[in-house]
Amino acid sequence: MNRVIIVTGASRGIGAATARLAGSKGYSVCVNYLHNEAAAREIVREIEKAGSSAIQVSADVSSEPDVKRLFHTTRERLGGVDALVNNAAILEHQTRLEDLDASRLSRVFATNVFGSFLCSREAVRRMSTKHGGQGGAIVNVSSGAARSGSPDEYIDYAASKGAVDTLTVGLAREVAREGIRVNAVRPGFIYTDMHASGGEPDRVDRIAPSIPLGRGGQSIEVARAILWLLSDEASYTTGSFIDVSGGR
Ligand SMILES: NC(=O)c1ccc[n+]([C@@H]2O[C@H](COP(=O)([O-])OP(=O)(O)OC[C@H]3O[C@@H](n4cnc5c(N)ncnc54)[C@H](OP(=O)(O)O)[C@@H]3O)[C@@H](O)[C@H]2O)c1
Repeated sequence: MNRVIIVTGASRGIGAATARLAGSKGYSVCVNYLHNEAAAREIVREIEKAGSSAIQVSADVSSEPDVKRLFHTTRERLGGVDALVNNAAILEHQTRLEDLDASRLSRVFATNVFGSFLCSREAVRRMSTKHGGQGGAIVNVSSGAARSGSPDEYIDYAASKGAVDTLTVGLAREVAREGIRVNAVRPGFIYTDMHASGGEPDRVDRIAPSIPLGRGGQSIEVARAILWLLSDEASYTTGSFIDVSGGR
């Protein structure tokens, strides 16, 4: 297999696990990140050690010029793009809605929503058979928050993931006859550094007793669902969601 994948936000957490797993399955991997170059370079090194090609590209998914450069660089250095994982996202400190301000809303929606739209656009322009491409697959990383609304924590983040769900359904139907499948995973409570950004590093342990499977999830467990959705095994699956949330 000589397929090229872009994983946004792949310097740590679920994105890093997805990039590693994609590399182990033979994809050439573009490891996108924002700030942490050393971590991204380490993921690239691990993928190369396992026998696949990889590059790291710093690009802010909320910036249109950055996103264009991300896709251009990937084509120049790896030879195209067959798969995209819209994984990069942010959340901010837990708070109630009455304490949210416009600048925070802009930041959260810029990365989580605009970023997913801009990256999807660049992918469709290259993958669509309508534009001379060879098709491909996109997986959006949504969240169980899109269903729960995350009261008392971050309704803004939850709403951004609701938008990602709508993007998934709409785009899946728009490009279904152009060789592109679009699906999403909705992780539940996964052990990553993201919870520290919300001000509660041990959030998963707090919630774990209420999860039917009795524990939080690991990034690799989300990555496996993503790679399945990208694979030919999922050839009749588009506009679909996999909850990777331990039953909650
Ligand atoms: N962890 C969970 O429990 C959970 C649950 C549900 C859904 N999710 C979703 O799963 C995905 C991954 O979450 P995670 O927990 O692995 O997150 P994380 O550990 O906080 O990692 C976030 C990654 O995104 C990158 N990033 C942030 N802003 C970016 C931007 N503007 N442009 C490009 N890259 C950017 C970061 O890069 P730098 O390190 O270089 O800054 C980092 O690699 C997200 O979509 C999240 O919403 C997570």
